[in-house]
Amino acid sequence: MGKDIYLGLIGFGTIGTGIVKLLQENEDLIQKRLGARLVIKKIVDLDIETPRIVSIRKDILSTDTNDILNDPDISIVIELIGGYEHAKSFILNAMRKKKHVVTANKALLATYGEEIFTVAEEEEVNIGFEASVGGTIPIIKTLRESLVGNNIKSVFGIMNGTSNYILSKMTDEKKPFDVVLKEAQDFGFAEADPTYDIEGIDTAHKLALTLSLAYGKRVNMEDIYMEGISAINLQDIEFAKEFGYKIKLLAIAIHRDKVIEARIHPTMIPFDHILANVGGNYNAFHFIGDASGSVFLHGQGAGMMPTASAVVCDLVDTARDMMKGISRRVPLRSFPEKNIDDIQLMSMDDIVTNYYFRFSAYDRPGVLSKISGILGTHNISIAAVIQKGRKQDGVVPVVMTTHPSRERNVQEALKEIDKLDVVGRKTMLIRIEDERLQ
Ligand code: HSE
Repeated sequence: MGKDIYLGLIGFGTIGTGIVKLLQENEDLIQKRLGARLVIKKIVDLDIETPRIVSIRKDILSTDTNDILNDPDISIVIELIGGYEHAKSFILNAMRKKKHVVTANKALLATYGEEIFTVAEEEEVNIGFEASVGGTIPIIKTLRESLVGNNIKSVFGIMNGTSNYILSKMTDEKKPFDVVLKEAQDFGFAEADPTYDIEGIDTAHKLALTLSLAYGKRVNMEDIYMEGISAINLQDIEFAKEFGYKIKLLAIAIHRDKVIEARIHPTMIPFDHILANVGGNYNAFHFIGDASGSVFLHGQGAGMMPTASAVVCDLVDTARDMMKGISRRVPLRSFPEKNIDDIQLMSMDDIVTNYYFRFSAYDRPGVLSKISGILGTHNISIAAVIQKGRKQDGVVPVVMTTHPSRERNVQEALKEIDKLDVVGRKTMLIRIEDERLQ
């Protein structure tokens, strides 16, 4: 039935193995749906000796990328080596040879997207990157196609499985940060360098790609405000519960009139909100479109077969284009390249939200009035106060939540408060998202 379409795969690790497995196990079904057969002609990896869980012919394995690049039969390459330089040069070389590309490399696309998408346009080839944001969850397709008629009013996402796993375990089992980070690494969904996960960098890569597709903008991911979860402790998680919140590492994008508010930080959200119930290493995306209303997508953000599922989706899309004699049926970044312009991000100083503060105060008379006095002079209105818990190193936690306040005022107030002689340590700040999430 139909013709064969030849693929070259570089990077025969967990995901690469998953793709081979999926193409083998669902071969008939995929062939029936596509009307052609996807055939892996070459697999390149530095290690071609270690047995994998799939059986393949020895002669398709190689350690030389040129075996893919110089094979004229191979029309789609799958890049799974990750990292920057080597992956970039492989992708650019493949495109220059008119090969379509499928990749899961979010870091590469978020950093060198301009150059890569420009070459794809010049060479008239596809780049599929569904697996790069949200793993198996169809985020790219949803933004490029399903929600194409909408002005995306906001995106709230849990985009990093490792951080979500850590925060979920700290919340549900009261396990300390370091212990659960080690567990996440053992499961294999953490990045090679886990600071990418816990400091928000991986989330920033994914938010940058999401923003460019949602709004047709060039995004420099360095400009996105980013704060990770490494400062969150069990005490904050317990206080959050008392206020009716859970802490999640959220990626937030809100379409303001002329600017886009984009930020990544630990966020307290109402415990009954759908995002608060995204547990373990799951990812979830909550889009609000002006026509669609609320759209919620949830699934595995990493892992062998879930990620392979997204890669195979891109392979089939590209193969379908090829069989019609076209490429880029859908613009790669959702908007034609000529309509993409620079993003105007809202300054972090100007955001307005609710805040949680944990002050480390000496247990002396007048502490509360000094703190609340400074907050008042900076126009910050207190919503609730809790003072309880044991003294540690002479200080007690005094916890407050606020009504909507401006970030600039909050930062200025905390600078003054942290200088008070009744305050023993730097104040912990966690932003709260409440009404806008509904
Ligand atoms: N390290 C990533 C995560 C893997 O934990 O979500 C998928 O991008």
